[in-house]
Amino acid sequence: MVALIVFMATILLSYAQEVVHPPFQTGDCSICHVKTQDGYSEALTTKVPDLCYMCHTRKDQKKIVHNPVKAGNCTLCHDPHKSKTQALLKAPSQNDLCVSCHPNIKKLLAKSKVHPPVELMSCSACHDPHSEDHEFRLKMPRKEICFMCHPDIKEHAEKSKNKHAAVFMRDGCLNCHNPHGADHPKLIHTAVPKDLCLSCHNKIMGREEDGDIIKNMAEHFALNPNPHGPNQWGDCVACHNPHGSDNFRILKAPFPSGHYAKFSQENYICFMCHDPTPFLEKETEASGFRNGKLSLHWVHVNKDKGIVCGACHDWHASSGNPHHIKDYTEFGKIKFSLNYVPTENGGFCGPLCHPRRGYDRVKPVFNPR
Ligand code: HEC
Ligand code: HEC
Ligand code: HEC
Ligand code: HEC
Ligand code: HEC
Ligand code: HEC
Ligand code: HEC
Ligand code: HEC
Ligand code: HEC
Ligand code: HEC
Ligand code: HEC
Repeated sequence: MVALIVFMATILLSYAQEVVHPPFQTGDCSICHVKTQDGYSEALTTKVPDLCYMCHTRKDQKKIVHNPVKAGNCTLCHDPHKSKTQALLKAPSQNDLCVSCHPNIKKLLAKSKVHPPVELMSCSACHDPHSEDHEFRLKMPRKEICFMCHPDIKEHAEKSKNKHAAVFMRDGCLNCHNPHGADHPKLIHTAVPKDLCLSCHNKIMGREEDGDIIKNMAEHFALNPNPHGPNQWGDCVACHNPHGSDNFRILKAPFPSGHYAKFSQENYICFMCHDPTPFLEKETEASGFRNGKLSLHWVHVNKDKGIVCGACHDWHASSGNPHHIKDYTEFGKIKFSLNYVPTENGGFCGPLCHPRRGYDRVKPVFNPR
């Protein structure tokens, strides 16, 4: 009894799954096949695709026509009678069908990250299988197709006070992402964001109107072999938002733009990861940068005309000094040495800002004014 029910259910299910072409379902084969004395021949009344266009709107009317459609080979993809797959397809799924002729895309689908709509919605989420007016028969122009499903990123990119030109230039989103699949998180083209960023930031960039120069980062990293924190593992997006931001230099949190700034804890992205205590308290042991207990971070940074971290540190990469202390600091075109010399319990500095001064955590240094 149970076996019979299972058998019946299987039959019903397979029937329910089957897509039957309505003209075939009528049983009147002569709709498409030539009638003969003893039934119907395999010969068709009209050749494909004209046969199909008797009942269907033309599929080759838009600017860019898919080669098999242009050739009129509807039956390369469709079974004219019935199929187990939606749209009478001749493969177990639409993706299987498409990649049977596009092995390069098949390879991308084997990558560790596949773009969810490719898997969940199949190729026709973005491509028309027949003809379209846009390049690659995309349903929207190539530079806009991503906006169809990621309006939040579009809005973010366009509304950010500081826009990242990378999103708008050349290939838009495709400058950084693969639309099908990749071996890297977030479908980016390279193993880590750093390689992606440096593929463009390998030259001086800038906006001449406001004399705002953006340095050659690839060169900067090549000359300074000691990358700071997240940059050691290529994670530029720990601090920067690749799609743009309201903060200076498309940062994920604020950072002052000049050499001096009135101190406030909220104004420094650094405190996302570092302890702010030495900057808030005049006396502390929470930092190595102190003379006795006097916090020299507090002295330099916590005032109305506070010195911004970049006068002393390079958080992208430094040369050889401990604590990512810079060799040189720059004020516009003036470049001068910090002459930083670490000692066992402190260090010395001899910048242009003041005479050579020292600090020592154990035996405070007396620095004459
Ligand atoms: C909507 C049009 C249409 C109808 C209706 C139709 N056929 Fe076909 N049939 C075709 C086309 C087109 C081909 C050629 C398929 C190809 O090129 O792969 C074909 C091919 C065939 C073949 C050759 C083998 C094969 O499957 O490719 C047989 C047999 C056949 N049809 C039988 C039938 C029978 C029997 C009926 C009626 C129950 C029928 N067809 C109804 C369009 C139709
Ligand atoms: C006699 C009219 C007729 C002819 C000839 C015909 N079709 Fe159809 N076809 C239909 C009807 C009716 C439907 C169901 C309504 C619809 O989807 O338009 C349909 C549906 C389809 C579908 C959609 C099935 C689905 O599940 O979404 C495909 C694909 C299709 N036809 C392909 C073809 C191809 C390829 C040919 C030529 C080999 C062809 N048809 C010839 C009448 C026809
Ligand atoms: C490269 C494979 C391919 C070829 C060649 C092809 N189709 Fe399709 N067709 C598809 C796929 C895939 C779908 C399903 C699209 C979807 O789900 O959005 C489809 C859907 C359809 C549909 C139903 C939806 C609609 O767009 O109306 C019809 C009818 C149809 N095709 C007819 C044709 C005809 C007629 C031809 C030949 C001129 C043809 N197709 C050639 C892949 C193909
Ligand atoms: C029967 C083989 C066949 C099938 C199935 C097929 N294609 Fe194609 N496709 C071709 C051929 C041939 C070309 C033109 C040659 C080329 O440029 O690669 C082409 C071109 C393309 C192009 C443009 C490539 C370019 O570089 O301009 C896209 C996009 C595409 N197909 C997507 C699809 C999608 C999506 C499907 C599934 C709905 C599909 N193809 C199914 C044969 C096929
Ligand atoms: C999320 C949207 C989207 C989906 C889903 C999608 N594609 Fe694409 N496809 C694109 C875009 C965008 C391009 C243009 C890529 C470029 O210019 O770098 C493209 C380009 C192509 C090309 C031509 C360029 C190349 O890399 O060979 C083919 C072929 C192609 N797609 C096939 C497919 C197939 C097959 C599927 C389903 C397995 C599919 N696509 C699913 C967006 C998509
Ligand atoms: C048809 C809808 C659709 C289109 C078009 C589309 N996406 Fe997606 N995308 C999704 C969905 C659904 C997800 C998974 C949910 C999410 O992360 O938003 C996703 C996720 C992503 C992710 C995150 C992947 C991860 O590993 O977390 C990236 C990156 C992405 N899409 C980029 C793009 C780019 C670039 C384009 C344009 C080429 C694009 N998408 C076009 C639907 C789409
Ligand atoms: C400059 C390179 C670059 C460009 C251009 C770019 N992205 Fe991204 N995108 C990334 C990186 C890197 C990540 C990973 C961010 C992270 O992990 O914090 C990402 C993450 C994403 C995600 C995952 C969700 C998220 O916010 O982390 C989506 C979706 C996405 N991008 C879509 C897009 C779309 C749509 C466009 C075009 C409007 C675009 N991207 C342009 C580099 C880029
Ligand atoms: C496709 C090329 C390209 C890629 C990839 C790219 N950028 Fe850019 N980036 C630019 C261009 C162009 C500018 C604008 C320069 C200008 O304003 O003249 C820019 C500007 C910037 C700026 C300064 C923004 C401002 O508001 O002044 C920062 C910071 C930046 N990029 C960081 C990154 C990071 C981090 C990555 C990697 C996630 C990255 N970029 C990837 C092309 C790129
Ligand atoms: C720890 C946070 C952090 C990380 C990680 C980081 N940056 Fe930055 N980046 C900043 C800050 C803060 C600024 C703005 C300060 C300034 O230039 O005065 C900046 C500025 C920039 C600028 C503009 C440079 C200029 O000359 O004004 C570029 C380009 C840039 N970063 C690229 C990158 C790239 C590429 C990576 C990854 C290799 C990266 N950043 C990693 C914090 C970071
Ligand atoms: C006047 C130069 C100068 C300025 C400005 C400066 N630092 Fe420092 N910083 C140092 C020196 C020197 C050390 C090394 C102390 C030592 O000998 O261990 C240091 C050490 C550090 C350390 C290592 C932990 C510690 O406190 O010993 C961190 C983290 C740090 N600084 C972050 C910052 C941040 C964030 C800013 C801006 C808000 C900043 N620094 C501003 C000179 C400076
Ligand atoms: C996303 C987290 C993160 C952010 C944001 C960040 N850092 Fe760091 N920082 C680290 C990590 C992790 C280390 C330890 C590895 C190293 O020494 O590079 C570190 C180390 C340092 C050191 C050396 C500490 C020592 O004990 O020698 C200094 C100096 C420093 N950071 C300054 C900064 C400054 C200035 C900023 C803001 C522009 C900043 N960091 C923002 C994660 C971060």
